Amino acid sequence: MSSATGAAAKGSSARRTKDPSVRRSLALFRAFLREQQDPEHCYTLLARDAADQVEAYGPLKGRTVLDIGGGGGYFTEEFRRRGAHSYLFEPDAGEIGKQPPKGTVLADGYLLPLADGVADVAFSSNVLEHVDDPGTFLSEMVRVTRPGGLIYVSFTNWYSPWGGHEWAPWHYLGAERARRRYERRAARPAKHTLGENLYAIHIGTTLRQVRARDDVEIVSARSRYWPFLAGAVTRVPGLREFATWNLLLILRRCP
Ligand SMILES: C[S@@+](CC[C@H](N)C(=O)[O-])C[C@H]1O[C@@H](n2cnc3c(N)ncnc32)[C@H](O)[C@@H]1O
Repeated sequence: MSSATGAAAKGSSARRTKDPSVRRSLALFRAFLREQQDPEHCYTLLARDAADQVEAYGPLKGRTVLDIGGGGGYFTEEFRRRGAHSYLFEPDAGEIGKQPPKGTVLADGYLLPLADGVADVAFSSNVLEHVDDPGTFLSEMVRVTRPGGLIYVSFTNWYSPWGGHEWAPWHYLGAERARRRYERRAARPAKHTLGENLYAIHIGTTLRQVRARDDVEIVSARSRYWPFLAGAVTRVPGLREFATWNLLLILRRCP
């Protein structure tokens, strides 16, 4: 992902749409399709959309929001635009880019250099499928969130049509085969390798793990992008692994 500076410049082109609505889902889908050509538009739109989703649970103004694995900082910048004290924690200097938001910390989400309970909101968008131990990653998000605070976590599950990322949907025929196919066709190395920086994460397993915890309650479990049946689809075992596309969990830290 490139730096967030362009996001501010291009921000005006990313119009707000109601969530859920067909218009919103189509706008996001179109932006994803053009992500390579116009990353600023894509990530500005996604950041606004995610900030709207967080703000549905209360105003961001004055809140402390941690953007964990936030790449180039589009989300951090959007939270700041809404008056939050937001900080980017990202372990990959290459993802951060040359002009990250002020105060960006090069840090791993497994071990955040933060005291317990400092955040009103711990936020991670599309990171969980890139860590090999999602349970530990989630525990660290919970640790840094204050009692009563929110944890926003979304991820693309493995059997989602986009589960194989740049080599999707060929991952259904096997990850290695899909990756090699991508490299042949694109004539460049794939960004992701299964078991190295992309992991097969599932919705049923994740929901069971989260429900088994006694330090969080599930406020919402829904498809992040679907315009309808977004909550219902996550309740149907089997189907949910294919049809959810991307699971959005909103958790509340128990007192
Ligand atoms: C697909 S990008 C998502 C970036 C951004 N959050 C978004 O939604 O556009 C995945 C990000 O997860 C980060 N990541 C991978 N492992 C991580 C870890 N252990 N802790 C924190 N971030 C991690 C990567 O460096 C990368 O920036």
